Amino acid sequence: MAVVITVAQRKGGTGKTTLAANLAAALAATKKVALLDTDPQGSLTRWHELRLKHPNAAPISFANPAGWRLSLELDRLKRDHDVIVIDSPPQIDTDARLAVRGATLVLIPVQPSPPDVWAAEGTLKLASDERRKAAIVLNRVPSASRQKDTVIAGLTERNLPLLQATIGNRTAFVDAFAAGLGVTESAPRSSAAQEVRALMREIMESLK
Ligand SMILES: Nc1ncnc2c1ncn2[C@@H]1O[C@H](COP(=O)(O)OP(=O)(O)OP(=O)(O)O)[C@@H](O)[C@H]1O
Ligand SMILES: [Mg+2]
Repeated sequence: MAVVITVAQRKGGTGKTTLAANLAAALAATKKVALLDTDPQGSLTRWHELRLKHPNAAPISFANPAGWRLSLELDRLKRDHDVIVIDSPPQIDTDARLAVRGATLVLIPVQPSPPDVWAAEGTLKLASDERRKAAIVLNRVPSASRQKDTVIAGLTERNLPLLQATIGNRTAFVDAFAAGLGVTESAPRSSAAQEVRALMREIMESLK
């Protein structure tokens, strides 16, 4: 059965598109992966266009369906893919709701700051309304950050589903994105790549 990972968070700029691209690229090393861009901003579509210039990069099926076409596309792709990663727009509109509805797991990137955590609550509620499993991942975590510990303590205290894997604030993510690659491809030995692989393993383990 194909698993569907929808990256969602109604706050803008928290790392949805970056994580969707990096997870898809890391997973594509060993699995048949499809990537769906449901955000009209189209950043992931641009990333995938750049990726086509790397003939040796692991293939990733790609589509950017809007509205009701998403569920048709999902049904089609589920037949011959192991994992489908969906990037969603930064607001809870119909498209984001449909992307959450189609998910096996809703992955919510949160930067370690209160407004991100507050916005995550709305996304968690959406996942819960749609009866979908959700997980929060801390993104852009600075190397020395008291705010990170405070945020982790707050999330844990409230029993919110926080993943152990965290993603640092690293230029490798910006460089890889600009090249149409994931950090596991452009800088496989980097800390960024290790973090993405750890995140991928934790997610796939949680879906077994
Ligand atoms: N871990 C990271 N380290 C460094 N830069 C990052 C990281 N994650 C994201 N960024 C940068 O932060 C910016 C926003 O990231 P991204 O576009 O992935 O967020 P988003 O949630 O998809 O935004 P939107 O809500 O507009 O769709 C980008 O410039 C991206 O390169
Ligand atoms: Mg985005």
